[in-house]
Amino acid sequence: MIFLKGDKIMCGIVGYIGRRDCSDVLMDGLEKLEYRGYDSAGIAVFENGEIKTVKTRGKLKAMTEKLARDGKPQGFCGIGHTRWATHGEPSDVNSHPHSNGRVTIVHNGIIENYAQLKEFLTEKGYEFKSQTDSEVVACLLDYYYAERNPLRAIMETVRELHGSFALGILFKDFPERVYAVRKGSPLIVGVGDNEYFIASDIPAFLKYTKKYIILDDDEILCMDTNGIEFFDVHGITIKKEIQTAEWDVEQAQKCGYPHYMLKEIHEQPTVVRKTLDMLVKDGVPVFDEIGLTDKMLRGVSRVFVVACGTAMHAGIIARYAIEKLARVPVTVEVASEFRYMEPIVGENDLVIVVSQSGETADTKAGLELAKSRGAKTLAIVNVKYSAIAREADMCIHTPAGPEIAVASTKAYSVQVAALYLIAFRFAFARGIILEDELKRLTEQLYRSPEAIENVLKNKDECQFIASQLVNVETLFFIGRGFDYALSLEASLKLKEITYIHSEAYAAGELKHGTISLIEDNVPVITVATQQNVLPKTISNMEEVKARGAKIIAICRKGTEFAEDTVDLRLDIDADMDDILVPLPTVCALQLIAYYTSVLRGIDPDKPRNLAKSVTTE
Ligand code: G6P
Repeated sequence: MIFLKGDKIMCGIVGYIGRRDCSDVLMDGLEKLEYRGYDSAGIAVFENGEIKTVKTRGKLKAMTEKLARDGKPQGFCGIGHTRWATHGEPSDVNSHPHSNGRVTIVHNGIIENYAQLKEFLTEKGYEFKSQTDSEVVACLLDYYYAERNPLRAIMETVRELHGSFALGILFKDFPERVYAVRKGSPLIVGVGDNEYFIASDIPAFLKYTKKYIILDDDEILCMDTNGIEFFDVHGITIKKEIQTAEWDVEQAQKCGYPHYMLKEIHEQPTVVRKTLDMLVKDGVPVFDEIGLTDKMLRGVSRVFVVACGTAMHAGIIARYAIEKLARVPVTVEVASEFRYMEPIVGENDLVIVVSQSGETADTKAGLELAKSRGAKTLAIVNVKYSAIAREADMCIHTPAGPEIAVASTKAYSVQVAALYLIAFRFAFARGIILEDELKRLTEQLYRSPEAIENVLKNKDECQFIASQLVNVETLFFIGRGFDYALSLEASLKLKEITYIHSEAYAAGELKHGTISLIEDNVPVITVATQQNVLPKTISNMEEVKARGAKIIAICRKGTEFAEDTVDLRLDIDADMDDILVPLPTVCALQLIAYYTSVLRGIDPDKPRNLAKSVTTE
C-alpha cells in the first residue's frame, strides 16, 4: 500500500501525568479518539525510570491483546497515539511512539521538509528504523538535546520543522514529565486535580476533568507532578486561561445506540431547537452580540460560503436561502479551490466559513485569505476552542455537542438552522421583508424539530428503502433547488458510509449526458419537496423511468404522482414552508444511508479512508 503525502490525516494524541494507572488512562483516551480514524496505535510509559513502549499495527483490540501478552507498562506518566498512515505503510515499526533512546515522541500532522532533515541527520550519524516523517522529529530533538535541556531542544527543533504538528514528548532523563508543542494540529491540555492530560480532543479526558487549556501554535507545555507550565518559542513563561467544557461524558457516549451516527441523527431535534433558542430573541434572529449587525448586513454586496464536505453542502442550502430571501449574490466555494483560485473578494464581502471541527486546513486557509483581503469573516463552527472559531472576526458556535461519527449529521443540521436565521435577518436588514414576515419565518423554522421527530418516528420506512439499496452498485440522487442541495449531501453521506457509487445531479441536468448511465433497475432517488419546481422534477423522473430506472421519491406528504411513475416513496410530514423542509428531509436521507451501511455490514461510525477532520491539505 502506498500512502502519499497529503492523504487525510487526523491521528490521535494522548498524554498523562498523575496517580492513575497510566496505561489504562492512555488506552481509554485513545478509544475516545478512535473516531478520528487510524490504522495503528501505541503507548509509551515511564516504568521505574525507563520508558516502556508497546505499539502495533491494527486497531486498539490488537493493542489490548499485545498489552495482555507482553505485559502492560506500569507507571503514572506517558504518551499514546493512534496513527493514520501518511509516510510509510501501517506497520508495527511505523507506529508511534518513536524513540531514539533519549527522546520518545508521538506526532500528529505532516513534516513537509522531513526528507531534507533526514538527510542532515543521517550525515550526523543518525539511523532510522521507520519510514515515517515523525521519527525525524525524535532524532532532531535528540540532536538539539546536546545540552540536556529539554525546553531548548524543543525550541530549536520547532524552528526547523515545516508543516503541521502536535507533539507529545518524553525525555528519558526526566521521568514523570511530559512535554508538548503544536503548530497547526490541535492539542488540548486537561487540568485535573493533581493530574494533567494532553489530547487531540476533549472527549479523551472528559471522564476525568472538564477543565482544559488550549495549547496555541508555537506554545510549549511542560507538565509534571508539580503542575503545568507554558512557554513561548523563546522560552519565556506564558500564562494561559483555564476553560470549562460544556460537554458532559454522556454526550460523548453512545447511550444505548448501536452507533454514534444513529445517536447523533436522533439528537437533531434537540440540537436544532437549541440553535434556534440561542440565536432568536423575542421571536426574531439577532446577531448583534457577535457583531453581525443590520448595518453591516446592509453594506454587504456579496456573500461567499467557504467550506469542505458536508459543511460545504450546508453552504449550498444557505446560497438558495440567502439569494431567495435577501437577494444578495452568494457563491459557495470548496475551500481547497477557494484558497488557490485568487478569488475576487474584498471589504464589501462577507465570507462565511462553515466547519464542524473548526480545524479543517483548507477552510482555515480560506478564512485567512479572506481576512487578508479585508473581507468580513463569519465562522459557523461546532468546536468552540478550534482555530477557525478563534480566527474569524465573528463566530457562531453551534451547540450540537460532540459529533463523534465520521459522517456528519447533527452538525450539518445546526449549520443549516443557523444559516437560515442569517438569511432571514439579512432579508430584514435589507428591507426586503418586514418584521411580521421575519417573525413568521422564524416561527416556521421553529417547527423543524417536530418535523424531524416525525421523520424519526417513521425510520422503519427509511430502513425499508435501505433494504432495497443494499446490493446495488450505483445509484443517483436528483433534485432541483433546495432538493438539489440535499441530493448532494445525501449522495455524499451514502458514499461515505456504504461505499456504493452514487452521483447527485440537478434534476434537469441529467439528460445532458449522464442519463446514458441509466439502465434497468438503477435506483434514482428523487428529492421532490419543492412545489415551485415539482412539475419539472416529475418530468425528470419520467425521463429516467422511461429508461428503466427504479424511482424512489422523497416528497412532501400529499404529493401526487401519475400512476407508475414512482416505485417507492417516503413522505415528509412537515407543516412548514417549502424552503425550510430540507431540515426534516435530510434526516430521512441520513437514515437511509445509515441503514444501508449497517445492512452492508459496515461500521458507519468509522468508514474506511475517511478522517473526521482533515488538518492537512
Ligand atoms: C472531512 C469529513 C467530512 C466533513 C469535512 C469537513 O472530510 O470526513 O465529514 O464534512 O471533513 O469538516 P469540517 O470539520 O470542516 O466540517
